[in-house]
This record gives sequence, C-alpha cells and structure tokens, in this order.
Amino acid sequence: MKNIIVFLGAPGAGKGTAAASVAAKTGARHVSTGAMLRDALARKTPAGLEAKSYMESGGLVPDAVLCRMIGELLAETPDGATLFFDGFPRNVAQAEALDGLAAGAGAAVTLALCLDVSREDLLARLGGRRVCPKCGAGYHVVALPPKKEGVCDACGEALITRLDDQPKTIAHRLEVYEQSTAPVIGFYETAGKLRRIDASGTAPEVAALVEAAVAG
Ligand code: AP5
Repeated sequence: MKNIIVFLGAPGAGKGTAAASVAAKTGARHVSTGAMLRDALARKTPAGLEAKSYMESGGLVPDAVLCRMIGELLAETPDGATLFFDGFPRNVAQAEALDGLAAGAGAAVTLALCLDVSREDLLARLGGRRVCPKCGAGYHVVALPPKKEGVCDACGEALITRLDDQPKTIAHRLEVYEQSTAPVIGFYETAGKLRRIDASGTAPEVAALVEAAVAG
C-alpha cells in the first residue's frame, strides 16, 4: 500500500516548508504540485505551457492537467512509500478524483493536515518569501533567512521572488483559496481524516507538530 498524507492550508501557511522538513527526517516523498508545475513551465512542456496563464494570475490550473500528473506519479511510486501531497487536492473535485486515482494505484489518503495561520501572518510570510530557482529551496527574509543575503545555502544560486508573490496576485490567490480550496477541509473532516495544526509558531515548532501528527 502507498500512503498519502495531504497538507492543506492557505497560500503561505507553510505547507511546503513543513512538508519538506518532515519528509527529510522521515524518508517520505514531498510532492508539491506547485513546484511540479513551475518545473514543467521552466522546461516548456505542454502541461507547463497550459498552466502558465493560470499560475501567473493566481488561479487554479485545470483539474485534468493535475489529475494526469498525479495519476502518473502514483503509478510510478513503489509500494510502502509515504507521499506528502502539498498543493493537491485543491478543490473538492480533485479530492474526489484523488480517491479514485489512489484506489486504482494501491494507495490511500490516510491523513489530512490543515495548517491554520492568521491572514496577517499569511501576508507577512508570502511578502517575505524568497526561493531558489535552481534547487527549489525556500527562505524568508526575516523568519528563515539564508546565511548569505540573496544566495541559496544549498546550491549558491541567486534567490528570487516568485512571480505570483506580487501583492495583487496574492490577494487573488487568497480569494481562490477561500472559494475553492477551503471546502476540501470539510471533505476530509467528513471522511474522519482531518487533523488541525496550529501553524502560527516558528518553522521548527510547526515541523515538530506535523512530525508528531504524522507519527500518529
Ligand atoms: P503552490 O506552489 O502550491 O502555492 P500555494 O498553495 O499558494 O502555496 P505556497 O507555496 O504559496 O505556500 P506554502 O503554504 O507552501 O508556504 P511556504 O512553505 O512556501 O501553487 C502555485 C500555483 O500553482 C497555484 O496558484 C496554482 O496556479 C497552481 N497549482 C498548484 N497546485 C494546483 C492544483 N492542485 N490545482 C490547480 N492549480 C494548482 O511558506 C511561505 C513563506 O513563509 C516562506 O517564505 C517560508 O520561509 C515562510 N514560513 C514557512 N513557515 C513559517 C513559519 N512557521 N514561520 C514563519 N515563516 C514561515
């Protein structure tokens, strides 16, 4: 059986930061659909080119593109693996599709973690985020600064601000989250799989809460 743990939470809640940290400690595979789409876009694949305009405006990429990517990933995942899904599912249709894709691939969603953060903190986290365009490592100018300003600790590349971290696009992403993604929390609550995490603390504090929840 392949074990899927879903990370839910608004843009900037810290899903990627916590998932990457706990995956590195536990051996789980961190699957970020945002990162997969950004990579596809950088390589100009058909999926990346189809996703471009949606991502730049902060809207959702069509479900069919995501379901195809996730179906392929589940098929190639070995039995016994644990996957941390960060950014998928992002609406109820994707959550329902995931149950079907998982069943067909010998996988199941066993837990959904919802990272709760105030809107004020979300804006501060997104506004200060810097990312490495080469290896994908994430930083924050105040909360998680790199050792040398503007330079990735892991690979030495110059850090950038994500295109969708501009104030206008952030506002649209938060609206899309409320309309389309927040209902996914109810989907997993009804299924008895939801666990809420107070994600207002520091990154190491949040990672510790997530690690404990994953361990059961
Ligand atoms: P995606 O990359 O998934 O973006 P998102 O969901 O908006 O999430 P973020 O990456 O912005 O935030 P995060 O919660 O991971 O926060 P992070 O850890 O970076 O998706 C991008 C786009 O791709 C979407 O808009 C959409 O177009 C498309 N897409 C992706 N999946 C899709 C899907 N399933 N369907 C359709 N379209 C899809 O942290 C944020 C900042 O805060 C960082 O600077 C970090 O260092 C800092 N930080 C983290 N934790 C803490 C902490 N505890 N304290 C202080 N600072 C912290």
